[in-house]
Amino acid sequence: MCGIAGVVGQGNVVDTLVRSIRTLEYRGYDSCGIAVLQNGALAVKKGVGTVEEVSQAERFSDLDAATGIAHTRWATHGAVSAENAHPFTSCDGRIAVVHNGIIANWTELRARLEAHGHKFRSQTDTEVVPHLIEEQLKLGAADFETAFWQSLNLIDGAYSFAVVTSLEPGRVFVAKHKNPIIIGLGESANYIGSDFNAFIDKTKRAVVFDDDEYGVITKDDFWVKSRLTREVVCKDVTTVQWDAEMAKKGGYPHYMLKEIHEQPHAIRMALGVDARGMAQVVEMLRAAKRIYLVGTGTTYYVALVGQYLFKDHARRFVSAVAADEFTLLAEVDAETVVLAVSQSGETYDTMQAIRCAKAAGAKTAAVVNVMGSSLAREVNVALLQMSGPEISVISTKAALAQMVALYRIAADLARADGTARGDAADVAAAFAALPDLVQQVLNEKSGFLNTLAKHTCGWKDWLFLGRGVYYPIALECALKMKEVAYRHAEGMPAGFLKHGTLSLIDDDICSLIFVPPKRDEALHKMVLANIEQIRAREGHVVGFVYDADESLASLLDERVLLPDVHPSIAPFLELLCGQMFAYFTAVALKRPIDRPRSLAKSVTVP
Ligand code: F6R
Repeated sequence: MCGIAGVVGQGNVVDTLVRSIRTLEYRGYDSCGIAVLQNGALAVKKGVGTVEEVSQAERFSDLDAATGIAHTRWATHGAVSAENAHPFTSCDGRIAVVHNGIIANWTELRARLEAHGHKFRSQTDTEVVPHLIEEQLKLGAADFETAFWQSLNLIDGAYSFAVVTSLEPGRVFVAKHKNPIIIGLGESANYIGSDFNAFIDKTKRAVVFDDDEYGVITKDDFWVKSRLTREVVCKDVTTVQWDAEMAKKGGYPHYMLKEIHEQPHAIRMALGVDARGMAQVVEMLRAAKRIYLVGTGTTYYVALVGQYLFKDHARRFVSAVAADEFTLLAEVDAETVVLAVSQSGETYDTMQAIRCAKAAGAKTAAVVNVMGSSLAREVNVALLQMSGPEISVISTKAALAQMVALYRIAADLARADGTARGDAADVAAAFAALPDLVQQVLNEKSGFLNTLAKHTCGWKDWLFLGRGVYYPIALECALKMKEVAYRHAEGMPAGFLKHGTLSLIDDDICSLIFVPPKRDEALHKMVLANIEQIRAREGHVVGFVYDADESLASLLDERVLLPDVHPSIAPFLELLCGQMFAYFTAVALKRPIDRPRSLAKSVTVP
């Protein structure tokens, strides 16, 4: 789970490489490195820290070269250390490799290579690759390409690689199996990246690799071949719809805040999701006997919200299953539809769930943000949510937009089934007004939530409680609090509290309650009863509530008052408040907002 970049250009490309891996730091940021071809030989620099720290400490700017590769790491095999940072080189120092993924048979390969005299300097799986290529050359491979191809055939696992060698100046070799790699086509320069962000400031023209493809870029050209047949593959050139500006902070102190503020736009895009794709998904769902929604982390919570949306708007029970448990739990056959949710479209667990479903004959679809991603290419129908790049490791706008896209699917399904709610037109109007309401809450409540967070940031333990659809909203907001503020927050159905967790209520734990509008009478009553249970034990309670709900004034220590809205969209305003509350708590605690410790945005490992 790392970021890979490569360039072949003219003049010095070192700055470009450094910029590229900076944009990929959301994929990992514990160490980084660079390898360039300078005066006919490879020069490698690497170290522990962020790209900014390492590039300065190791003086990357002393390098001057027109061909190179670079890497930013999120450790999987081997501790975070300079030795374990990429790139890795062959014994003769003529081959350098960067890698994203996991080589499953690396211990066998390493033992074999060591028996042939290769010396290893790290504890990583990746280091076998430069030695493997070197060994194939020693064994008589006709040329570097052949040695690279033979090496790929010996590797078992998931990878994207970029390779430079002094044996073939002016070229970067690349390969893909289960992890993403993309070529960017520029003017007198071509680029490699784990995603479009790596080169979006240089070119919008891209070629996306499929599994079992490898290739080469030069300054003016590229080719792609199948690893299976070694024949040239004719690839389409895609035009990326994002631009460099969208991937910048634009005056906000953090990407997380910027992306929270981009939610009105993200919702509008999700409401207008491609009609053709939508019709295909609806047809697929109508023909299905069993429907699963899958995702991981935040997107699993999106799937759980989807479960309630399908029930409320389409009168259908669908199963939300965490992608990492899917293969252990789900019953899948040809009459099953699996609808995956993913921002990056690269998450290993989600991809595995989809691959397993396809293998069992199921139909697959996805709501996904990144065009050309592995998931978008793997499923039968991909609905692109078009939220724009989400750079912060903490997912906000993508998640809210995905929930809105799931509402759209449920509403269209109900219309096709003839089971639409009587007030479906009112609900649609409420969703159409959601972007403006989100904007209003951003404008009016940011200051209050900031002050509240400053008051409450001392609480180390939280219960986040909700009922109905507010339960997965509470789960998602608790995840935000954990990942960005490093505060223990346990999301739970409020009705579950009395079955055990109530014993935790004391002076050391604070409860945040997600209260529905009073118009949602039955749900409102239930939550009220749960708040009473906490108050009876003198627990401290904060609530997200709707205007004019005086029934709660005496029960809550602190309240965030929201404008009275249609119950169908109320949960989304509370999600917004939960995101902002976690953000401001993290700011108050001086956390590194966009890059929390131990996390990476795109989890491409099991
Ligand atoms: C949380 C977060 C993660 C991701 C999860 C799935 O803020 O970002 O929980 O939601 O790793 O990632 P995608 O959506 O890229 O499949």
